[in-house]
Amino acid sequence: MVFVTRKMHFSAAHRLFNPTFSHEKNEQIFDKCNNPLGHGHNYTLEVTVKGIPDPETGYVIDLKKLRDIIEEFVVDKVDHKHLNYDVDFLKGIIPTAENLAIRFWSILETKISSGKLHSVKLFESDQNFVEYFGEPVSIAIYSHESANNTEVNA
Ligand code: NI
Repeated sequence: MVFVTRKMHFSAAHRLFNPTFSHEKNEQIFDKCNNPLGHGHNYTLEVTVKGIPDPETGYVIDLKKLRDIIEEFVVDKVDHKHLNYDVDFLKGIIPTAENLAIRFWSILETKISSGKLHSVKLFESDQNFVEYFGEPVSIAIYSHESANNTEVNA
């Protein structure tokens, strides 16, 4: 098994808060990340695909194709956007690096036809990053009315 990784960059704004929490509780939990008008990050996204190299090409996946998939279905959707408002597949979730990685996985998994998606690693800064390997987890979705329900990410 060989692991092949493509690294991408994007910049985006977000605000971390839970609409069902009081202002005080949001301040306490999310602190500076709860700034009402948001704040920005220069994200680095690493997507790893695993597989056996094709005997005729030597590729697990053509890295140009992997780049195009990540660019079209993830980076182009989030780059220079406000993650709380501008991105359909992030609507209603708290846009932590954890939740972004889970969402990116569910999009990329369906698009990768050569090899198998192994991990989505998302750096919010040089010091802080998350890594997701596709184990099913639920993400809370918050509506404008502050009611919430959960969905399971298969
Ligand atoms: Ni942040």
